[in-house]
Amino acid sequence: MIKICLINGDGIGKEVIPVAAEVLSALGLDIEFTEAFAGFEYFKQTGNAIPDATLAAVDAAGVAMFGATSSPSTKVDGYRSPILAMRKAFDLYANLRPVQSLPGSFSRPNLDLLIVRENTEGLYSGRERREGDTAIAERVITKRGSERIARIAFEQARKRISSQQSAFTVTIVHKANVLKVTDGLFRECCLQVAKEFPEVTVKEMLVDAMSMRLVRDPENFDVIVTTNLFGDILSDEASALIGGLGVAPSANIGQKVAVFEPVHGSAPDIAGQGVANPVGAILSAAMLLEHVGQSSQANRVRQAVNATLAQGILPRDLGGTAKTGEVTKAIVGNL
Ligand code: NAI
Ligand code: MG
Repeated sequence: MIKICLINGDGIGKEVIPVAAEVLSALGLDIEFTEAFAGFEYFKQTGNAIPDATLAAVDAAGVAMFGATSSPSTKVDGYRSPILAMRKAFDLYANLRPVQSLPGSFSRPNLDLLIVRENTEGLYSGRERREGDTAIAERVITKRGSERIARIAFEQARKRISSQQSAFTVTIVHKANVLKVTDGLFRECCLQVAKEFPEVTVKEMLVDAMSMRLVRDPENFDVIVTTNLFGDILSDEASALIGGLGVAPSANIGQKVAVFEPVHGSAPDIAGQGVANPVGAILSAAMLLEHVGQSSQANRVRQAVNATLAQGILPRDLGGTAKTGEVTKAIVGNL
C-alpha cells in the first residue's frame, strides 16, 4: 500500500491537489490518502500556518503532495511559510525540478533538463537582520550540504545514462568568481563528488551565463546542480520554455520524507475560477510514483498528460479554454 498525505494549502492549491489525487486514484493502485492542513488561510483561522498534526501526518505517510500557500511579502508575526517549515522539519535538502518538452506550440522541443537545487541553505538560511539602515542576509554554504546535493545530481545523471544509453552531463552552476568563499566551497565539493562518477561528464558555468544559455540553447543541458536561490530563479525561468509555471513539477527529497509540489504558487489572481492548469500538480504526482518505485505508473501518467495536450485540450495559460476539471477528465480518460 502507498500512503500519501495531501496538503492543498491556499488558492489554486485547493483546485490542483484534489485533481492530482483523482488521477492517482484512477490508476487502480492500492493508495491510502490522508488529508492535512497548512497555509495562510489556516493561519488566519488558527494562528498556526502548519500545525504539528500536519507534520506528523506527513511523517507517518512518508510522501506528501503539497499545493501552494500564500506567503505575505511583509513580516506577519507568528507566520512561517509551510513549505519552508517542512523543508526544515524533514531536512528536504534536494529540490528536483525537471523540465521536459510537452507536445504543443507553447513548449520548445527536445528538452530534457533536470535542475537540482539545494533546498536548505544558501541565501534561504533565514539569517537576516537589520542593523540600523543596513540590512544583512547571511549566505550559508556547508561542505555537507554541498556534497549531498552534488551526490543526488550525479546519481540522477547516472540513472539517466542507464535508461537512455547516452552520455550525460552535470553542469555545476555557481558564481564563484564573485562569491569566492561560499560558492568556492560549493564548486569544490561538487567537483570532488564528481570523481565518484567517472561516467558522467562535468561542466561548470557562472549563473549569469547559465541564465542566458537557458534561453538560447537549453537543449544542450542535462542535469544542472546549483545553490538554493540560483536554483529557484533558474527553474522558474526554465519552466517558461515548456509553457510556464502551470506545467512545472517538483520534488523535495529528504532522507526519510519526500514532498511533491507544482512549482507555481497559490495564484490568487485566478483562484476559485476553476481555470488553474492542473498539469504541474499531476506531473508532480508522477514524480511521487517514480519515487515510490512505480516507474511504469509514472510513465502512464506522463503519457496521459502528453496525449491530452496533443489533443489540444489546453487550459487558459496554455492558450486554450479547457477548465481544470475538463483537462483532468481528459487525462484520466487517456490513462
Ligand atoms: P504564482 O505562481 O502563484 O503565480 C504567477 C502567475 O502564474 C500568476 O499570473 C498565476 O495566475 C499564474 N499561474 C501560476 N500557476 C498557474 C496554474 N497552475 N495555472 C494557470 N496559471 C498559473 O506566483 P506569485 O503570483 O508570485 O505568488 C502568489 C502567491 O503564491 C504568493 O503569496 C507567494 O508567496 C505564493 N507562492 C507559494 C509557493 C509555494 O507555496 N510553494 C511558491 C511560489 C509562490
Ligand atoms: Mg519559486
